Amino acid sequence: MSEVTQFLERYYKDPVAFVENVLEVRPEPWQRLILEAFARGDRKISIRSGHGVGKTACASWLLLFHILTRIPQKSVCTACTSTQLFDSLFSELKIWIERLPPVIRNWLDYTSERVVLKASPHESFIVAKTARAETPDALQGIHSENVLLVVDEAAAVAEPVYEAAGSSMTSEHACTVLLGNPTRPTGYFYETFHRLSGDWTNFKISCFDSSRVAKTYPEEMAAMYGEDSNVYRTRVLAEFPMTEDDVLISTELVAAAVERDVEVNPDAGIVWGLDVARYGQDSSALCKRKKNHVLEKIKIWNRIDLMELTGNVVNEYEETHETDKPDQIFVDSIGLGAGVVDRMQELGLPVRGINVSETPSSDKYANMRAELWDKAKSWFEQRDCRIPDDRKLISELSVPKYTYNSRGKLKIEAKEEIKQRGLKSPDLADSFVLTMMDHGSGGSIAPWNQPLKRRVAL
Ligand SMILES: Nc1ncnc2c1ncn2[C@@H]1O[C@H](COP(=O)(O)OP(=O)(O)O)[C@@H](O)[C@H]1O
Ligand SMILES: [Mg+2]
Repeated sequence: MSEVTQFLERYYKDPVAFVENVLEVRPEPWQRLILEAFARGDRKISIRSGHGVGKTACASWLLLFHILTRIPQKSVCTACTSTQLFDSLFSELKIWIERLPPVIRNWLDYTSERVVLKASPHESFIVAKTARAETPDALQGIHSENVLLVVDEAAAVAEPVYEAAGSSMTSEHACTVLLGNPTRPTGYFYETFHRLSGDWTNFKISCFDSSRVAKTYPEEMAAMYGEDSNVYRTRVLAEFPMTEDDVLISTELVAAAVERDVEVNPDAGIVWGLDVARYGQDSSALCKRKKNHVLEKIKIWNRIDLMELTGNVVNEYEETHETDKPDQIFVDSIGLGAGVVDRMQELGLPVRGINVSETPSSDKYANMRAELWDKAKSWFEQRDCRIPDDRKLISELSVPKYTYNSRGKLKIEAKEEIKQRGLKSPDLADSFVLTMMDHGSGGSIAPWNQPLKRRVAL
């Protein structure tokens, strides 16, 4: 058996053994997982990491494994600047080429921007191409029986590059590996962890997951920037930064709905949402919505007790003309709200208690609060809705930020977290969001004529 055949027999399916035996380096456990993902055939792999964990090294190993075991093959590595590409990725690749046993190293030739398999230099090569927005073709039109595309510092690579890469990435024999510090909370790299995560194998490697990173590094970064800072989030925790982009409903979307000239279906039902103050300084707020129309400014009551609040809402209900009465009144039943629901039920109002921390109807969401806020966002996105010129409501709607939890589910910033940012609890916006309950959300809603099922909420 020739050396090549022996080599292929041994390593074709086993990149971990290749790294351990041929490159003679022990991969970190997470590096091993990435190599194994490739070996089992995952074709879209995105890796976000902290600083210096060893991801560029891992990508270099894959590139070498690919050129040495897949024949023919074409690999392209790219990054947004030539410094990043040549001083980091390509120079790391060369370090590992030098580490190959001489017999195997001799199968390869390399220049400053190309590595070729001597046996078929035109059919089997690794090429380095800078990915620029003006010339977005770095990853375009790469066709071979085996294709490997590696994008280093993928968050910084411009969108047109990914758009142009489309057909190369989707070809059956291609594998794409995106890696980088999660520096930007928008764009293609970000979306591979969110909207597109179903198609991608995701890895997150914080500095705490890698023995390559000095133990003192996170402490130094925390001392310099603070653990809440975006620098710490991205460089240490491998989390995307928080910015205004993380606000769920943009100010633009809300502003466009203020007194918009839209038709309101006169036959549509009306719903009310009541957000009950949880603490002394919060307000209780009542929103009235008729389909695509918030009917009037949000009513607010400050510092009143439960009985008084219930009395006010009941009065409001009784004084409302029969044709304008709500079909349902959704009340946030967490904490004090539960008492309001009980009392209004006794009085025969069509009230439903909503515990927003309960299970949503779709597993896209971390809880019902997230589901309702996301519905509110869609309501605005339809761009056929109208809200009154209510300054407080307008500003509160664009306050809550969103994130995704470790299981990829949408989470909306809790009232408590918003207050910790020094902002007022968005009670008016929450009363509006409660009205979204009529769009068929899940959770346990106590029917208005049955006892309320109550749970302790966070
Ligand atoms: N498992 C490993 N064993 C030995 N050295 C490693 C290993 N992983 C990475 N390295 C080395 O650690 C250094 C930092 O890794 P690098 O891949 O540049 O980190 P990152 O790209 O995540 O910032 C490099 O010199 C690399 O060769
Ligand atoms: Mg790197």
